[in-house]
Amino acid sequence: MTQDALKAMAAQAALEYVTPGEIVGVGTGSTVNHFIRLLAGMKVPVKGAVSSSDASTALLRAAGIATFDASEVQALALYVDGADEIDPRGCMIKGGGAALTREKIVAALARRFICIADASKRVPVLGNFPLPVEVIPMAASRIARQFAAGVCGAQGQATLRLKNGQPLITDNGQHILDVSGLRITDPLAFESAVNQWPGVVTVGIFAHQRAQICLLGTPQGVQTLRFDV
Ligand code: A5P
Repeated sequence: MTQDALKAMAAQAALEYVTPGEIVGVGTGSTVNHFIRLLAGMKVPVKGAVSSSDASTALLRAAGIATFDASEVQALALYVDGADEIDPRGCMIKGGGAALTREKIVAALARRFICIADASKRVPVLGNFPLPVEVIPMAASRIARQFAAGVCGAQGQATLRLKNGQPLITDNGQHILDVSGLRITDPLAFESAVNQWPGVVTVGIFAHQRAQICLLGTPQGVQTLRFDV
């Protein structure tokens, strides 16, 4: 089975958690793109979605699903999103698609976060995937030096993410640093520490807003991992 087929399986399984008529939080990425396609095919549709990126908003609208601004809703029952890595406690690295800030905002509105992913995303310790950090551009060099000096016992090498040879600009008008070489054994402490650094908009560790459930597409079928007990 291809990785994409495993992603589609996980997205399909997430549909069971969606209540027709509700507004659902929708993440970003290739796994979520399957979820959006499946949402659009529901017999009794959802009322709409709060989207975590311009890219997902465009796909949702093209599929005929209404989108609501995050500030228009007080709470969501459900947020569905992918991950770049997920650890045994449901903590994640996210932001490979540069949408981490809005993903964290929408996740914070939701009572339940369901992570949909193919089996390759499950890891014992976070950090093999370069950690995305959205930063205010003028702070980027200093933040890179701070990662090199170390945080919570982990040192990393930060690289400015480029697109077509230029710094990638996020939906929020900021830059992304990708930090490699980290081994994040205490994601909660790590997220809290980096959040304090001046110029950090969002660190792509989702530990304070970890997933309660992960639907993992595997060659043997969808595996459901529960982290809320
Ligand atoms: C987007 O910014 C990310 O957080 C994605 O959720 C993550 O990169 C997973 O992407 P795929 O579903 O494309 O693997």
